[in-house]
Parts: sequence; C-alpha cells; structure tokens
Amino acid sequence: MTANQVPRDRVYVHRVFVRVFHWVNALGMTLMIMSGWRIYNASPLFEFKFPNEITLGGWLGGALQWHFAAMWLLVINLLIYVIVGFATGHFRKRFTPVSPSSVVADMAKAVKGKLPHSATTYNAVQKASYIGVLLAIILAIVSGSVVWKPVQLQELAVLMGGYEGARLVHFFSMAAICAFIVLHLTLVLLVPSTLIPMIMGWARKSKHEPEASHEH
Ligand code: HEM
Repeated sequence: MTANQVPRDRVYVHRVFVRVFHWVNALGMTLMIMSGWRIYNASPLFEFKFPNEITLGGWLGGALQWHFAAMWLLVINLLIYVIVGFATGHFRKRFTPVSPSSVVADMAKAVKGKLPHSATTYNAVQKASYIGVLLAIILAIVSGSVVWKPVQLQELAVLMGGYEGARLVHFFSMAAICAFIVLHLTLVLLVPSTLIPMIMGWARKSKHEPEASHEH
C-alpha cells in the first residue's frame, strides 16, 4: 500500500523501501550473527564459546558459506536503503534533528513514563539508536572485510590495529548490534502498535498523530 491508497482513518508511516530494507536486514542479520558465532567457536577470541544450538552452519565450513551468502544480501540491501534514504530525505526527516541533550531529555521522560509515542515521529532515543545501529552495521561490514581480505585491505587493517585488531572490532560491532536488538525488541514488545506499520505501512490515526506522515 502506498501513501495515496491509505484510507482516511489511517496514517501512512513507513515507505515500501524502508519496510523491505527492514525485514531483509532482520533476516540477513540473524543469519550473519548465528553463522558468525559458529565461526568464532572455531577459534575463540575470549574464554567462552557460543552454545552450538544457537549457531548456524553445523561446522566451520558450513558457517562460512552461510556468512558469505548472507553478507551479500545484507550489504546490497543496506546500500539500496542508504542511497534511497539520502535521495528521498528519509534520514533527514526521520533521524534528525538529534543531540546528546535531546537523547538525555527523552530518556528521562521515558523513565518517568512520560514519553508519548507517535507512529510518524521518532523520539530522540529512537533516532540515536537507529543511527547508532546503522553505524555499527557499517563498522561490522568494514572490519569483516578486513578479516576476509587483510592483505588487499592493508591500510584499513593498520587503522584497526592489524588483523587481530580487526577481529576485535568485528566482534564488538556484533556485540553492539546484539545489544541494540535486545533493546529494540523490548521496546517493540512494550509498544506493539509500532509493528503493524512496519509490516503494512500504515497505522490507525490516534489523537496524537498529525494529519499526514512527515515523509510527504
Ligand atoms: C524480529 C525482529 C524485529 C522487529 C519485530 C522489529 C520491529 C521494528 C519496528 C516495529 C520498527 C518501527 C519502530 C517505530 O515506528 O516506532 C522498527 C524500526 C527499525 N528497526 Fe527493527 N525490528 C526487528 C529487527 C531489527 C534488526 C535486527 C535491526 C538492525 C540490526 C533493526 C533496525 C531497525 C531500524 C534501523 C529501524 C528504523 C528504520 C527507519 O525508519 O528507516 N530492526 N523495527
């Protein structure tokens, strides 16, 4: 459904490209993280391993195949989202303005239960966490590329402290993405009315909503 086809009692919230990106990314991310954990288990950086039951691929070779296949899905999907996001003004309209003080102020409101949720406007905490996770995904892609091709990408490798440094950067960007996912899913559970718009595109109008989405 596009903006022009939305009935009068509904408000258009998420464009098609955002929804397609979001769900392909959620699938790609799940495959990347689960296969990545199996690859990690073959040569752990720390004193622990991930339980095999929550990993993908069955063994190192299988996990690497999943990781490389899902990598293309994730990177191409992200590239289209970033290009269309900038070209349509999506990032400017939805993710800005945002400042450290607005994040702190909205967090304080959220703790007191006084942060109203609007389907069409993200609060400062959402803006910061969405920008943050997109940067963490980009860092995971760049550091992963260094781990994959350390000779061809020597200059980048040096920036990350060599091959071992790039492995650490890759691990901690994964950890940041996992932390985001836990927070993100908790918030979706707390405000489940946000889920339908991310699937269908629209939300039922409430008294808090402006007449039309900010993207039009
Ligand atoms: C089953 C898993 C997931 C569910 C149910 C889910 C649900 C949602 C919902 C409902 C929104 C809209 C929030 C709102 O309008 O207030 C949203 C937005 C978003 N989610 Fe997720 N999400 C999932 C997984 C992920 C993952 C794995 C990532 C990235 C690692 C992610 C990144 C984002 C981003 C960046 C946005 C903002 C998109 C934009 O406006 O351009 N989500 N998600």
